Amino acid sequence: MLGNFTFFNPTRLYFGEGAIKNLKGELEKYGPTVMLVYGGGSIKKNGIYDAVLSVLKDCGKKVVEDGGVMPNPTSKKLEEGARIARENAVDLILAVGGGSVCDYSKAVSISAYCNDDPWEKYYIRFEEPTCKIIPVGCVLTMVGTGSEMNGGAVITNHEQKLKIGHVFGTEVFPKFSVLDPTYTYTLPKYQMVAGFYDIMSHILEQYFSGEDDNTSDYISEGLLRSLIHSSRIAVKNPTDYEARSNIMWTATWALNTLVAQGKTTDWEVHMLGQAVGAYTDATHGMTLAAVSMAYYRYIMPFGLKKFARYAVNVWGVDPQGKSDEEVATAGLVAMESWMNEIGLVMNLKDLGVTEDMIEGIADATLIMQGGYKVLTREEVVDILKASL
Ligand code: NZQ
Ligand code: ZN
Repeated sequence: MLGNFTFFNPTRLYFGEGAIKNLKGELEKYGPTVMLVYGGGSIKKNGIYDAVLSVLKDCGKKVVEDGGVMPNPTSKKLEEGARIARENAVDLILAVGGGSVCDYSKAVSISAYCNDDPWEKYYIRFEEPTCKIIPVGCVLTMVGTGSEMNGGAVITNHEQKLKIGHVFGTEVFPKFSVLDPTYTYTLPKYQMVAGFYDIMSHILEQYFSGEDDNTSDYISEGLLRSLIHSSRIAVKNPTDYEARSNIMWTATWALNTLVAQGKTTDWEVHMLGQAVGAYTDATHGMTLAAVSMAYYRYIMPFGLKKFARYAVNVWGVDPQGKSDEEVATAGLVAMESWMNEIGLVMNLKDLGVTEDMIEGIADATLIMQGGYKVLTREEVVDILKASL
């Protein structure tokens, strides 16, 4: 049965080629000082920086820059960003980049006026913001996380070897996001396909939980089929607008809270992946890909009916004359073959994990309650070993 819920998403999206033309109207809603946040420099090479800066100048904004946001943004960098935002009394934080830049900007927005240590408050004690929140807008350049339309902000603390995501409430969601699929054309293939798998993982984390008949699972199956179809086109031709735009839209719906409404969710693959990320700083989507097959093969018997449904409805496995177990297994074989086909990293060794890290990674893995099997620590270790 679908549980009760309240659904509200406050992010205004501007989608499509040339969507940047809508930025001016958004900027005019805010005060004079804009903090322009970006990553390691891709936006300076592909012209997006110039495009955004010219709109900011056009609007007469005072621009305070905070560049150099690293993939998997750190708690140290967060302290720096919070200080810049506070000292300049910024009126809007404009994130121009991927999930890392967007997540970081949200974290800065709730840290600038926080009287506490933000890492301790938001990521260890999981408290909600109680201070003034600076509005955030986003110009997305990398597809996968869904950060453009959600309250997630994942921060890594290298000293404590922890990578933790806090999903904040709607007051932390971006006020607006500009989604131009052509902005993603310059992504290296490694990042592009890592993003594709991040999308798949977000949907599966919400799909492989519960046994109720609910609309969300039907939506998820449709999103998955669209993703698989378009990903095959995009890896061959990264500038295929139809494929890239479909994937961009799928990514947003995969994690803007819609498909989680009224049902339970899992998120164990993300807990494993984040722990791997804390130890290796590896690309998020690849950490998920490397642990997924071992995890899903392990839990399949505990959620057999759903895995068989997944095989038939998503991967087109013919159930005729097969047991549920055979159907479900065939689905996972098809999934693994697609993962290899698009070029994902399929084991932890290729991400720099060595055997002596396994115990530490297991310690850093949060155990979730919503999947088909609540793992024990020993099972976490076994799955990590099987992923090596
Ligand atoms: O830093 P620059 O130079 O911009 O390069 C980036 C970065 O190296 C590059 N890139 C981005 N757009 C580009 C481009 N290169 C060329 N052309 C472009 N158009 O891509 C690299 C990766 O970028 P990043 O933002 O790190 O990737 P992603 O969007 O996958 O974000 C990853 C972060 O988001 C978190 C992850 O844990 C990770 O920290 N997540 C956030 C979530 C959320 N908010 O709900 C959920 C996710 O599960 C995820 O955990
Ligand atoms: Zn993810």
